[in-house]
Amino acid sequence: MLNKRAILETVAEINYTLHQMAVQGCRGFESSQHSLKTLSRWGQDAVSLSEKLEEIRLDLGDCQRCKLASGRKHIVFGNGNANAKLVFVGEGPGFEEDQKGEPFVGPAGKLLTRIIQAIKLSREQVYICNIIKCRPPGNRDPERDEIEACLPFLERQISAIKPDFICTLGKVAAQTLLKTDASISKLRGRFHEYKSIKVLPTYHPAFLLRNPEKKRDVWEDMKKVMREYRYED
Ligand code: URA
Ligand code: URA
Repeated sequence: MLNKRAILETVAEINYTLHQMAVQGCRGFESSQHSLKTLSRWGQDAVSLSEKLEEIRLDLGDCQRCKLASGRKHIVFGNGNANAKLVFVGEGPGFEEDQKGEPFVGPAGKLLTRIIQAIKLSREQVYICNIIKCRPPGNRDPERDEIEACLPFLERQISAIKPDFICTLGKVAAQTLLKTDASISKLRGRFHEYKSIKVLPTYHPAFLLRNPEKKRDVWEDMKKVMREYRYED
């Protein structure tokens, strides 16, 4: 969750410093009134975005909308940057995620962290979440009724964040978001669209742990994301 006060303080400090530098006649950077106003709005935007996500989390409450509620320890809502340009969507929490209430913190999560670092980003810059928010028993695939109960919340999270890119991890995330039965090997490696957001399906990091020879494909996929991500900077 974003710390609102820290953001506002940081933005205020940047504003103050730019203003002071402009007053002292420093040149070579943009410090017009217009820019300073834009900058202070960034802070407000980030705060209102994190409030939107908090509101969605509050609506979810102590969710009992599907049968997974009875076996979970924690709801895994998702975390990262409320203003992210890139969102990763996995399948659902595993054992460690259920214990901690955070997405992708187990072995697959460690690999995901390395994949994110390989494209020169950090987990703090992106947003990470799942199709379903509670752990299925024995990590089985989510069932249709569970996805139906949970998906509206993910859809609201994505609408709040408004990313430019979504990277889906594995079969379930790709098929669910893109509403298709096509296989992951057919879907991966090219951009699709979800509500005008570019979606790039790739393999799930847990699948990569079992099939390391597929890492090369994922690297090709991530290079595509990286290229477009930088292009739109
Ligand atoms: N696998 C997923 O799909 N999501 C997680 O959060 C962890 C493992
Ligand atoms: N099957 C899956 O469910 N996910 C993958 O990433 C690959 C195959």
